[in-house]
Amino acid sequence: MNYDHLLELVKSRRSIRKFKPDPIPDEYVDKIIEAARWAPSGANCQPWEFVIVKNKETKEKIYEFITEMNPINRKVELTRPSQLQHHGSHGGTDGRPGYMEAPVFIITCSDSRKLQGYHLSSSLTRGRDYHTSAMASAFLCMHLAATSLGLGSQWISATNYALTQARIRSLLGIPGELEIYDTMAVGYPALRPGPRLVREREEMMHRERFDHSKFKSRDQIEQFIAGVISAIDL
Ligand SMILES: Cc1cc2nc3c(=O)[nH]c(=O)nc-3n(C[C@H](O)[C@H](O)[C@H](O)COP(=O)(O)O)c2cc1C
Repeated sequence: MNYDHLLELVKSRRSIRKFKPDPIPDEYVDKIIEAARWAPSGANCQPWEFVIVKNKETKEKIYEFITEMNPINRKVELTRPSQLQHHGSHGGTDGRPGYMEAPVFIITCSDSRKLQGYHLSSSLTRGRDYHTSAMASAFLCMHLAATSLGLGSQWISATNYALTQARIRSLLGIPGELEIYDTMAVGYPALRPGPRLVREREEMMHRERFDHSKFKSRDQIEQFIAGVISAIDL
């Protein structure tokens, strides 16, 4: 393994939002979880649990729970300046998101009892951040593993809204001690996204001290956000 291979893998991982319905081998799912298993976590607590869902009716139910929140999310979104609003149509057929075609959903959960593993002072203040960081590291490993296997994957955040979580938890028998983090849809890609807007390296690097000539104004930040939001290939 060398840096060039690593960078190639990191750059070729993309959010895939349209999938072929073809099943993927169980062995690939195992490999994805195997990569997550080695992710770093605060105090090595490894708070993760993974629920693998392939059953079509179960996926339909999860989608139903996600869409229940759409009208509320839309209302909340409308309170923002129009250039900052998300207009996600999800790009799927019949108004359904493309991830519904993905043969596998992996619902990732973190065990809140593992918060006890952190130093008490950080656990009391930033314990949940630590859990989120651990889950994010595991999640990224999963996406990189999927890419390396020639699969596409999408990060679905909508499964962690309180109501959606509660419904999914009851559907899948997930104990109350576990919090649903995010869900990964994985399968063979049906569409490759266009080029991605990536910030220049120099723009984000500050040597020895913060370089205030690189500090963005509020307007510049809002312009940037509007640009990336409109470019997301939903
Ligand atoms: C914390 C987090 C949450 C995300 N949530 C979603 C999501 O709910 N739906 C989605 O389609 N993409 C989601 N994404 C993917 C980002 O939109 C995507 O990574 C970004 O636009 C860059 O594109 P790329 O992944 O193709 O490089 C999420 C990514 C992160 C890190």
